[in-house]
Amino acid sequence: MPKQTHSHWWENATIYQIYPRSFMDSDANGIGDLAGVLLRLDYLKTLGVDAIWFSPIHPSPMKDFGYDVADYTAIHPDFGTLSDFDKLLKAAQDQGIRIILDLVPNHTSDQHAWFIESRSSLTNPKRDWYIWKDPNPQGEPPNNWQSFFGGSAWEWDSTTQQYYLHNFLKEQPDLNWRNPEVKQAMFDGIRFWLDRGVAGFRIDVIDVMLKDVLFRDEPPNPDYNPATDTDRMKNRIVYSAYQEEVHALIQEMRTVFDEYEDRVMIGEVDYTLGLAKLASYYGEGNELHLPFNFRPLMMTRDQTPTATELMAYITEYDRTLGENNTPNWVFGNHDTARLASRVQQAVRAYAMLMLTLRGAAFIYYGEELGMVDVEIAHADMQDPFGINFPSQGRDRCRTPMQWDSSPNGGFSSAEAKTWLPLAPNHQSVNVFVQQRDPHSILSLYRKLLLLRRTLPPLSHGSYIPFENPPQDVVAYWRKTEREEVLLIVLNLSPVERDIDLKRTDSASILLSTELDRQEEVTLGCIPLRPYEGVILRIFANLGI
Ligand code: GLC
Repeated sequence: MPKQTHSHWWENATIYQIYPRSFMDSDANGIGDLAGVLLRLDYLKTLGVDAIWFSPIHPSPMKDFGYDVADYTAIHPDFGTLSDFDKLLKAAQDQGIRIILDLVPNHTSDQHAWFIESRSSLTNPKRDWYIWKDPNPQGEPPNNWQSFFGGSAWEWDSTTQQYYLHNFLKEQPDLNWRNPEVKQAMFDGIRFWLDRGVAGFRIDVIDVMLKDVLFRDEPPNPDYNPATDTDRMKNRIVYSAYQEEVHALIQEMRTVFDEYEDRVMIGEVDYTLGLAKLASYYGEGNELHLPFNFRPLMMTRDQTPTATELMAYITEYDRTLGENNTPNWVFGNHDTARLASRVQQAVRAYAMLMLTLRGAAFIYYGEELGMVDVEIAHADMQDPFGINFPSQGRDRCRTPMQWDSSPNGGFSSAEAKTWLPLAPNHQSVNVFVQQRDPHSILSLYRKLLLLRRTLPPLSHGSYIPFENPPQDVVAYWRKTEREEVLLIVLNLSPVERDIDLKRTDSASILLSTELDRQEEVTLGCIPLRPYEGVILRIFANLGI
């Protein structure tokens, strides 16, 4: 297939995820809000991001901090009003920053008007908008499906004497996407925001939307370990989610996006997918523009990948997607330990990796400061998943943004009680300090984002792996058709490594993660410091 010629803004975009409760509080109640984001828009402009993705900002009882939506076409009062949103959208657009919202289509809040109606009687017109079932003959839940957040995925409703399905909390009932009225209602909700000018949606657990029509029991998972695993891992998930038919539904949803110019459809899919399956969510160019690529996040979550493993994955991913599908890179989000806590001293090299690979990159707020996880005492935990499974709690990566060294870190007024505590290190790790320090990780991010926007090989060059790099070194070329060539070399080890560029005549260091390293022209062999990454401009004809 020839490469599609029309290019879209997201193909090399840097998308900054804001967890709205934790970015900036303008009204001193300890919870971030939209007016706060407006106050900090210049920061994002200077950082150089192309778009902001907001985790949900809609009315919600906040059982799952916004992923339990009670109204898809309004703003939660904690975050502001629709007019605050419009003001922010306009101001962001004026700065050239797009806004992406989070769509949560799999489930609503149990306080959504649709569910309140649905549960009111067996004959309510919205009864079939959710998934209701009779008990099994023993009077128990209809099958063995388990919720992601613990316990059975079925909740008994004593009024109407049936169970309803919830793949997440019992306060998050699953919608019945086989009902055409549900589709229309949600598609209208999407249009509501696209009409206002949002640049697209990140779509929550999109591959969970459809369930097995026969509601069969899941098969047991032979590897289940009750000591460490969540309840959902008792089973292999083949019926309560991940149905093949979801592709047709995604295609249908995509037609709504295609009614508008240049709107992006980003989808959260199973974190553990193999590459062929992940690639299938691009469809024939008619499904997701960007199915999240979580593998980098997963690879660094439980162990430290070797440079060889990382390169093998990057190369295979790039090849599997081919030229027509846009790669994307997720190294952190609101559900996982922070990048700096996972990769520690290699954090700068990983930033360089994420921002110099082909495709779109997602930065989770605060990663640009090297923010780390914060241990939250069980009594102070907010995240329902963490309360059930403390080792997997997500509060630790959701603490307030660290703007300065004042008592609440410039996130909220000094007197406010913030919804989660600030990281104790906010006195030294913060925007105010780092933006004055040319060697800070924030300065590195800014430089990387500038190069990413302005150097053609980074914005649209192809990716070519460097053959046989030294041990512990990840290395690859980025090259345009006009023969502009960059080489990115990342030392992931605590010892010095050299990379031999025999084939090149000369190279200059455009940027090093060690920001005190002077730009220099080098011949042949480049010595790398521990954990150092460099971007080299190559002047010779390499024949790569
Ligand atoms: C997604 C979200 C997560 C949320 C869940 C249920 O995985 O990223 O935060 O709890 O869906 O909506």
